[in-house]
Amino acid sequence: MKRVWIAVGLFVAACGGEGDAPDVEPIAWKDMSFEQRDEFMEDVVLPRMTEIFVAFDASFEGMTCATCHGDGATDGTYAMPSPQLTVLPGTEEAFIEKYETDPEHARWSDFMFERVVPEIASLLQVPRFDPVTQTGEFSCYNCHTLEGVEQ
Ligand code: HEC
Ligand code: HEC
Repeated sequence: MKRVWIAVGLFVAACGGEGDAPDVEPIAWKDMSFEQRDEFMEDVVLPRMTEIFVAFDASFEGMTCATCHGDGATDGTYAMPSPQLTVLPGTEEAFIEKYETDPEHARWSDFMFERVVPEIASLLQVPRFDPVTQTGEFSCYNCHTLEGVEQ
């Protein structure tokens, strides 16, 4: 019994020490400057998202900033959503009709919903939009534009 207590005590002490160490606090995406975001995209987002996309379809092997940002990657604004990505249907009915009934399209929307959105939301540490609870913010429309909606 006593040994366990000692072990717990040591563990807690070790943790406390680590927490006190300076400059270990990473900057959250929302607090990053444009330059820091640029660097974070290059070092973390692009490599990780390339893995995710390639696992789905090998043709994404040569994925670049422009795969998501379109012209924003060449003009340097990196503004999102990107009008060069597939424009998604503007109504729920049209969306279901196109992306949930046809299996070839459904494959894509499932991949986006199950892999892409959760992964990038977690990299950027922003809550993903949950259609069931209607909470969170990061969704398909942080990347894709919506039919009939002026951006
Ligand atoms: C998988 C898709 C994806 C890829 C690949 C990607 N980005 Fe991004 N990027 C995003 C999204 C989504 C946002 C917007 C996040 C948000 O809503 O805050 C963003 C935002 C940015 C921003 C911030 C823009 C602003 O106005 O604050 C910069 C800068 C940026 N990206 C640069 C890059 C660079 C450089 C690369 C390539 C090394 C890259 N991105 C690759 C998805 C991507
Ligand atoms: C981080 C950015 C990002 C997010 C978030 C995202 N997508 Fe995508 N999506 C892409 C990229 C990049 C492609 C490949 C280029 C293209 O086809 O437009 C793509 C392709 C697609 C395609 C394939 C179009 C086709 O037929 O070739 C569909 C459908 C799609 N996305 C739907 C969605 C849906 C639905 C969501 C939300 C659940 C979503 N996407 C979220 C970046 C994103």
